[in-house]
Amino acid sequence: MLRKLLSRIFLVLFLSGVILSLAYAMYTGNRLRTGKHRVFKLAHSLDPAHPVSKSLVYMADQLKQISGGTMTIDIYPGCVLGGETEMTEQLQNGIIDMMKSSGAAMEVFIPEMKVFGLPYIFRNRDHFWTVLDGPIGSELLTKGESKHIYGICYFDAGSRNFYTRNQPVNSPKDLIGQKIRVQNSRMAISLVELLGASPTPISFGELYSALQQGIVDGAENNLPSFYSNKHYEVCKYFSFDGHTMIPDLLIINLKVWKKLSSQQQKWLHEAAMRASKYERMLWLKKTQEALEACKNLGVKFTYPDKKAFIKKVAPMLRKYEKSSLAPLLKRISETPDKVRP
Ligand code: GCU
Repeated sequence: MLRKLLSRIFLVLFLSGVILSLAYAMYTGNRLRTGKHRVFKLAHSLDPAHPVSKSLVYMADQLKQISGGTMTIDIYPGCVLGGETEMTEQLQNGIIDMMKSSGAAMEVFIPEMKVFGLPYIFRNRDHFWTVLDGPIGSELLTKGESKHIYGICYFDAGSRNFYTRNQPVNSPKDLIGQKIRVQNSRMAISLVELLGASPTPISFGELYSALQQGIVDGAENNLPSFYSNKHYEVCKYFSFDGHTMIPDLLIINLKVWKKLSSQQQKWLHEAAMRASKYERMLWLKKTQEALEACKNLGVKFTYPDKKAFIKKVAPMLRKYEKSSLAPLLKRISETPDKVRP
């Protein structure tokens, strides 16, 4: 009798457990699917200590707050899901929802982005941000729609400079014959070739070991990326030639964007804009910190005369001034520099 009663109680408890778990799974599944609760998968190439990485974490916090906890972001940093080209393909296929990419890696998918790979087209940081905050910047964010890519905002990525293992770069002559890692970008390849070096495309995630093993003699990037990925451990020469200013971009799969309600789109946009502003401030601070830290770590910084570089890469500009990018280039050069607070 007692045994029968106990097994009945057990059966009732067991069935209630199953029913409750099913109900919970359906509830959370629905929240994720119906758009009541959205969890985004966001990937990028940078180390968690990098200012852009920190700003993405800030964005996730902001979004959670603004949306009352209904929109959250899981971040996969440091190329754990592959290089920027592979990540963009995953974004197009809906495997990841969002990513932070360099504008250079975007040129394979969005030809207009090639413009950022042209050397010395921005006069200074104010000019750069006036262009990106204005109509040109907004137009470029929508150019990837036919490739299922929608741009949300830009992040500062400073200017790109050469750094090397064995000798300082004081003039383009010092680059002759050197193997220089470049991004997966036709523009970067052409630029490095014009300077007499041999360009070698390698994913950012694999660059440290490529430098360490001597597969390449140097690379080019902004100072915070050089610092946060510890490239100073191998390359002791960093030359501020500032050949390009290529922004970072936050992009989202277009279908994912379109499926959001207009309220959700607004929240996401607002969180991204807050992060972009925060990042611009952080960028300056972190660049200065990286400079001091790298000096203490034995990196020799040089400030070469840019004129020699500008002269060497001039044919590239002339070529693109006759291409379909010509109107865009003209508009960029006619944009004034606005002084910012
Ligand atoms: C910059 C950019 C990254 C990119 C890297 C690179 O650091 O912010 O998105 O991966 O350059 O050179 O690949």
